[in-house]
Amino acid sequence: MGDKNATLSVGGNSYELPVFEGSVGPDVIDIRKLYGQSKMFTYDPGYTSTASCESALTYIDGEEGVLLHRGYPIGQLAESSNFTEVSYLLLNGELPDKETLDKFNWTISRHTMLHEQLIQFYRGFRRDAHPMAIMCGVVGALSAFYHDSTDISDPEHRRISSHRLIAKMPTIAAMAYKYSIGQPFLYPDNSLSYTGNFMRMTFGVPAEPYELHPAVERAMDRIFILHADHEQNASTSTVRLAGSSGANPFACIAAGIACLWGPAHGGANEAALNMLREIGTPDKIPHYIERAKDKNDPFRLMGFGHRVYKNYDPRATVMQKTVREVFDALKVDDPLFETALRLEELALHDDYFVEKKLFPNVDFYSGIILSAIGFPTTMFTALFALARTVGWVAQWNEMISDPGQKIGRPRQLYTGPTQRDYVPVENR
Ligand code: ACO
Repeated sequence: MGDKNATLSVGGNSYELPVFEGSVGPDVIDIRKLYGQSKMFTYDPGYTSTASCESALTYIDGEEGVLLHRGYPIGQLAESSNFTEVSYLLLNGELPDKETLDKFNWTISRHTMLHEQLIQFYRGFRRDAHPMAIMCGVVGALSAFYHDSTDISDPEHRRISSHRLIAKMPTIAAMAYKYSIGQPFLYPDNSLSYTGNFMRMTFGVPAEPYELHPAVERAMDRIFILHADHEQNASTSTVRLAGSSGANPFACIAAGIACLWGPAHGGANEAALNMLREIGTPDKIPHYIERAKDKNDPFRLMGFGHRVYKNYDPRATVMQKTVREVFDALKVDDPLFETALRLEELALHDDYFVEKKLFPNVDFYSGIILSAIGFPTTMFTALFALARTVGWVAQWNEMISDPGQKIGRPRQLYTGPTQRDYVPVENR
């Protein structure tokens, strides 16, 4: 890992801290022994300068707008690969040969059904429950149904539970949707692709055959690829932290889903489309740009800005291209796309956004595509959770396989009262 050191000087004392080099990207200063030596913690709420783990899965260069999975650029994967192949790559580190990929697809397809009793579980939710609320509950409940794959120290158990989670997520998400609109659940059809099967379970009905639109199936599969992993984002870090205590994978992924739901993270795709609908026509854009810049107004341009990207999010580039493909395939148009393009153009020429390096992120255009395909906004984040499951699972596996893995346990800067004596209520 290199032989550089950093020196920290505090109050006349110096501490030598090892510096590690990754294969690419910023070096890191190893502060693990700092507390033992100096009795000081480091302070970094929001982890803006902290590498929380070592990982070989995904690399982001936020300044250059680069995203690599196991070294492969996201643009190439989105163009030429498919979601299950990318899943294999994330889980195993290399692209599979044809035979291995066929076997992987076969294995995943054998896990698409849910335990029949889980259907009763759905019926406990209100019909108007948010699909993410249902996803959190059902995925957490999987650990009550699949006891045979929850020994996390056994690599075979980890493999099976990973496959189960990736395979069952489309069924769980489609059922959440069907439940909300009062239609019967559809069982999976394993003769279809991973994504085709999901679309049929979502939009098909038992009364008639479902006709898959190949261009839309392809676009949806690409959207899944774009969401598959994104290194140590909030939900992935949540999965790792939950898993660091030895919790079972189903519980950990349920924790990831809960974190993803927030509007600053995966909930932004829903919020971005709602925002575009509120803006409506391009003439209203300047008003909303002014609001986004106003410190006294909580309004932000949803789908804009990113903790890591200080350049165009490479996923947004693919997403923008996919909008047109879906419109052409479905022979539809949505004036909100023009509004979105104009909003992007105006924001990218506005000093506030230029100075703060705020660019469209993956969520800016995804809502327009998903809406054209027929998904209600409440399903958007559920689709993100479906696709991100492979990233969560791969990161969780990487962490558990690391012999040096420890429970995650941050420290704090305490600013509360110092020790004081309890006062009985009658004396207060
Ligand atoms: N609109 C207006 N101003 C913004 C926006 C925005 N979308 N995003 C950031 N800013 C401003 C902030 O007000 C802040 O200004 P200041 O320095 O004057 O205080 C500055 O840019 C930096 O923003 P922070 O919130 O400090 O940056 P952080 O890295 O913590 O947040 C985040 C990143 C949460 C993504 C933020 O840009 C945001 O809220 N964007 C909108 C929500 C969104 O699209 N989320 C999806 C992220 S991608 C994903 O999860 C898949």
